[in-house]
Amino acid sequence: MVRIAVLTSGGGTNLEAILCAEEAGEIRSGRVELVIADREGCHSLKRAENHGRKAILLDRKKLGRAAFEEKLLEILKSENIALVVLAGFLTILSEAFIRRYSDRIINIHPSLIPSFSGKGFYGLKVHEAALMRGVKITGATVHLVNEIPDGGRILFQKAVNVEDGDTPEILQQRVMREAEWVIFPKAVEYMSAKIEGERA
Ligand code: GRF
Repeated sequence: MVRIAVLTSGGGTNLEAILCAEEAGEIRSGRVELVIADREGCHSLKRAENHGRKAILLDRKKLGRAAFEEKLLEILKSENIALVVLAGFLTILSEAFIRRYSDRIINIHPSLIPSFSGKGFYGLKVHEAALMRGVKITGATVHLVNEIPDGGRILFQKAVNVEDGDTPEILQQRVMREAEWVIFPKAVEYMSAKIEGERA
């Protein structure tokens, strides 16, 4: 069973989708052992507790980047974490950290990468840009994390229609509901099974 940590910065709806998929038997090769939030007030930690999972606040602002990553690495190591899942996580991790978990960190991005991705594209800004450009189709992507923001190998994508009258908020909700919460659990199972297979 692959031990998973989920890193969050906000509401944790992607975390919720992953935990529910696990409890529904759709994720069988891995288990979320640990949820970490990088700032105060993340509902994701409440969600973790509701599902009986360890929930830790590591306040990046208070700690500063170096101490934040040091503590994060310490916790991941002591919990024998093999897969790191970035779910609405807004801290940019250093190249040194990424190298420590090479091909073992996945991220959800709320567009069809390469569109509306890379530095500065996160949260609502992604949907604002899609609406500004007037695309008719958008969606979500799960990708491996490397040193280039949103630049790692693409694992899963799912398309979503843009409707007339969409606001960034309405579009964000549709992309989460119809794409993010569908492909992220699939990607967690895919990566967990892959890691387990490599151990066999
Ligand atoms: C979502 O738009 C997700 O695509 C982005 O962060 C936002 C909040 O995610 N990565 P969550 O509700 O905290 O999972």
